[in-house]
Amino acid sequence: MPTGNPNLPRSIGLGVSGGIAAYKAIEVMRLLQKAGFNVRVAMTKHAAEFVAPLTFRALSGHYVLVDDYDPSNPDPIAHINFSQEIELLLIVPATANIIAKFANGVADDFLTSTYLASTAPVLIAPAMNTTMWDHPATQRNLEKLRSDGVHFVEPVAGELACRTVGTGKLEDVENIAAQALKILGAGASTDAEVPETIEQDLSEESFLITVGGTREAIDPVRFISNRSSGKMGFALAERALARGAEVTVVAGSVSVLPPEGVRLIEALSAEEMFQAVKREFTAASVFVGAAAVADFRPAKSEGNKIKKEGRENLTLELEKTKDILAFVSRNRNPGMIVAGFAAETENLHEFAKAKLEKKDLDLVVANDISAEGVGFDTDTNAATIFVRDRRKGFEVPLMSKQQVADRVLDEIAVLRQNAASAQI
Ligand code: CTP
Repeated sequence: MPTGNPNLPRSIGLGVSGGIAAYKAIEVMRLLQKAGFNVRVAMTKHAAEFVAPLTFRALSGHYVLVDDYDPSNPDPIAHINFSQEIELLLIVPATANIIAKFANGVADDFLTSTYLASTAPVLIAPAMNTTMWDHPATQRNLEKLRSDGVHFVEPVAGELACRTVGTGKLEDVENIAAQALKILGAGASTDAEVPETIEQDLSEESFLITVGGTREAIDPVRFISNRSSGKMGFALAERALARGAEVTVVAGSVSVLPPEGVRLIEALSAEEMFQAVKREFTAASVFVGAAAVADFRPAKSEGNKIKKEGRENLTLELEKTKDILAFVSRNRNPGMIVAGFAAETENLHEFAKAKLEKKDLDLVVANDISAEGVGFDTDTNAATIFVRDRRKGFEVPLMSKQQVADRVLDEIAVLRQNAASAQI
């Protein structure tokens, strides 16, 4: 760990691996320097082909480490000294290769040896082609690193260097710097505070989202409901708002407060929710059915409280509710994106894909609610996102519901971009 001499500026190790986004590491370095940090740079050999080490040397004021055994390196045990000096190891950009090496403890160059030799927290900002990002090997490696305590600045969706559109683009440099400073506990206290700028990629969209559970009355005091808290739906609303969208939420029964800035319509029963959505959906460009709508309700709701006197049994007859999601999908205006959720306890992929097809959806977020940390009333979630016309589902490992919401919104942004480019 660093010696912590208060007279010296605190040091960050910036690792640069070989991707087209390597030049963005320069901007990240400048932001960290502005925040008062000393930045020392280590590059892989491939990174040095994208940006000359001299650029980082001139801007950081330090020798840039590429190869441990380079005779011109002034420090013979550089990876040990470097790794012990830094308070954070930040990798911008991280390729699939460097992620694989870190995950498996391979130490065949300066940067990978530093990773093993350092006890500082590690923050990784990946950038790569969507197929490489989605590959089970990469996802497995990410999962391993997450369980080793490594932090990530998730890549975002957008147009990639390979001219395809998908998830894999390096997150904004301001956000990377802001997350690094947060880990260092320097986010709010530095003089040169880094403003959090969130890409307004949904500013053209108007979202209608159903949220929470529904209550189906048995009599004036009793109802049938479920364990939905509304957390996932509200997280989607919050992130869509943050990314510039207009958001209307039709909320059933929830146990958390809605995010500020949404237009809120309360609708407790499946029928009330259906009527509210029916009124609103033509004005929306994206519909997300995040509510756990009751599939059945009592066929008859008693006007008076049911008394137990004189009864040994009580049989309730249930009838099917209207499927709100299917209704919106069937009656949508051209261009509207429709997304739903599938909460399953078995055959996740098969059932979720069947929902996508049966309800003619653009996207389904499938949750295995039997897994730990997933499903109702948790702050975290993990999912597989299935997108229309895409063969394979996209795995979202366990993360906060806000982060899962961002991944879902990334896919919606990609669907919109693909639809727009198909029209050109
Ligand atoms: N949904 C809806 N209206 C209903 C029922 C469900 O809008 N009356 C939406 C949910 O918001 C969710 C998706 O449909 O987006 C869930 O699909 P569904 O087939 O209803 O799943 P389950 O309710 O889990 O049904 P099943 O028990 O058949 O799996």
